[in-house]
Amino acid sequence: MPTTKLQAMIVGTGRAVPEKVVTNRDLERLVDTSDEWIKERTGIERRHIADDRTHTSDLCTEAGRRAVEDSGISPQDIDAVIVGTVTGDVTFPATACYVQERIGAHNASAFDVSAACTGFIYGLSVADSLISAGKARNVLVIGGETLSRIVDWSDRGTCVLFGDGSGAVVVAPSDGRRGILDTFTRSDGRLTHLLHMPGGGSKYTAQVAIDERLNFLRMEGREVFKYAVNAMGDAAATVLERNHLTADDIQLLIPHQANLRIISALAKRVNVPMDRVYVNVQEYGNTSAASIPIAMDEAIRTGRLKPGDRAMLVAFGGGFTWGSAIIQF
Ligand code: ACO
Repeated sequence: MPTTKLQAMIVGTGRAVPEKVVTNRDLERLVDTSDEWIKERTGIERRHIADDRTHTSDLCTEAGRRAVEDSGISPQDIDAVIVGTVTGDVTFPATACYVQERIGAHNASAFDVSAACTGFIYGLSVADSLISAGKARNVLVIGGETLSRIVDWSDRGTCVLFGDGSGAVVVAPSDGRRGILDTFTRSDGRLTHLLHMPGGGSKYTAQVAIDERLNFLRMEGREVFKYAVNAMGDAAATVLERNHLTADDIQLLIPHQANLRIISALAKRVNVPMDRVYVNVQEYGNTSAASIPIAMDEAIRTGRLKPGDRAMLVAFGGGFTWGSAIIQF
């Protein structure tokens, strides 16, 4: 249900991406692909890839620290650290626990949210709910991934699409003027098989996973594409309608950055012209749960998102999961 009163707002943002850049031309040397094909089908030109010593928690810590500094809130005053990720450092404990320790948020609870590319919106929704319910005042929400670790670098159908990075926001009580107007989240567990990584959990032993090459992301690209456009369109329409808003009331649409064709189809469906859509997929590829908070931080720091603007976030990912949010800045 829509939030009738603004309860929580974003008070700080940050991002961290690895320095190493891998271009489409670099990938031409790895698999049978071309810069032209990748650009035409996806809009991606390059992606940032973590070196062997950099883990998801490192990127999340850096992005989280920047968001906390930006907010001016002391790490000790953070009540919860939520990390949206499907490439956590280890199966357990949660990546959020490593981040909590390293940023000094010693009074917080810490947990991960596994909702693939929708992980950030799920986390934001939980943060908004915790604050609305009076269970927390300040919540650090991070999306962070090192998808390069689970991509099959011999599969041209997937390895060209993904990149590594992290983005973060601090959510705190609303000042009554700015805030999260609404969040919407859904999933459809009948479609788990279309985008998943079979190994790495408890279903298969490590040996079976290695022998049968189960520790790689698997995807039915065409099916994902179809569902993504429909579900993201529905998610956007839902939050607009139930808050009595139209596309004209949105100054910036920040969609999950998976593919420029998905983004364009979504923009068309919800009637938002492309000059009001934030696009950076050319620079980072698909960074899953990190893509929206990276884009939001960039948009704020470059002046694309200004005080008084209303932004709509829309994501879709493995599960399938999808969701949306409207935020008054
Ligand atoms: N380079 C060159 N050729 C390729 C490549 C590549 N990297 N990858 C696939 N091809 C070939 C295929 O083998 C196929 O060849 P064939 O006709 O000889 O069989 C041909 O290109 C067309 O393949 P399609 O899969 O039909 O290509 P499509 O236009 O659907 O584009 C893509 C593929 C880019 C994966 C697209 O389906 C897509 O973007 N899907 C969404 C997937 C996605 O974004 N997933 C991310 C996770 S979910 C999310 O974040 C939304």
